[in-house]
Amino acid sequence: PTGQTISQTTGTSTADAETYADFNWDELGFDIVPTDYMYVMKSSEGESFTQGNVTPFGNIEMSPYAGILNYGQGLIEGLKAYRKEDGRVLLFRPEQNAQRLKIGAERMCMSSPSVEQFVEAVKQTVRANKHWVPPQGKGSLYVRPLLIGSGPVLGLCPAPEYTFLVYASPVGNYHKGPLNLVVEDKLHRATPGGTGDIKTVANYSPVCKALTEARAKGFSDVLFLDAVTKKYIEEVSTCNIFIVKDDVISTPATVGTILPGMTRKSIIEIALDFGYQVEERTIPMEDLLEADEVFCTGTAVVVSPVGCITYQDKRVEYKTGAETVSQKLYVMLTGIQTGRIEDKLGWTVEV
Ligand code: COI
Repeated sequence: PTGQTISQTTGTSTADAETYADFNWDELGFDIVPTDYMYVMKSSEGESFTQGNVTPFGNIEMSPYAGILNYGQGLIEGLKAYRKEDGRVLLFRPEQNAQRLKIGAERMCMSSPSVEQFVEAVKQTVRANKHWVPPQGKGSLYVRPLLIGSGPVLGLCPAPEYTFLVYASPVGNYHKGPLNLVVEDKLHRATPGGTGDIKTVANYSPVCKALTEARAKGFSDVLFLDAVTKKYIEEVSTCNIFIVKDDVISTPATVGTILPGMTRKSIIEIALDFGYQVEERTIPMEDLLEADEVFCTGTAVVVSPVGCITYQDKRVEYKTGAETVSQKLYVMLTGIQTGRIEDKLGWTVEV
């Protein structure tokens, strides 16, 4: 991701004009492509959220004293809408994101929309921007719900007003090819009792220093260790991590410093259904270095194989390619998400 905005270019045929926006779908990466509409809903002074609505996408106005701007009182979510082969559009487990937002809001002393309000807001945003859902095989529409303390505060306290926004951008792959990770053993992403297990906005900018330094050295991302002993692997800055050894799949247990990812959860369920042994546990560095395969999961990164990891002066390579466990899991997950594989568990929701 470059953080740049991509301008629209012509690439869609006239026959598709009503279904698809006028855009060259082959150039999608993970950058902002502005779409037409967003959803806005507010709640004040401890009240529930009232009816929101879809409005043209644009800037929002806030007091400089807003809780989000001064004290970081905010939560993000991320989910995707996928185009089926027949042109219809599916969301993947949106109620799970809604529930995670509610848990995060409780931790951050924020009002939050109900699960039904969240799912309805996401559906309305996707419906309004339906022509921005890429054709199957070209990408997906990344949907970003954002809950912020929009009311003004000076002394430290929860904001008196909250705003819930949903907006969307079509995206392609987050990473190109297998990841080249570096283990960070000085800076930390999360601490016990902190907020590493909720999707607060403040979990992301603090990793930018390690991430920027790693990228400058040619690494794709950073793997963080537990902040107490520095012996156990925890999470990559943008995603969860899994290791595979002799057909046993392991991932760090969600003990408070790990984000309970929707893709993480779905991959565990798919792997168990395939008959793999799956362990959620503490994973010492030695297990990572001896693994056969390593992969990352997240809404943005989907299932991304790790090609190599550098830890201090050691560089370890892992199996990647068509015959890997991660590829098998990726094919099943994305098959369900895009309607190519029967959704026996009722995970997808038509928009
Ligand atoms: C996601 O995967 O949805 C995230 O929120 C990660 C973000 C860094 C793009």
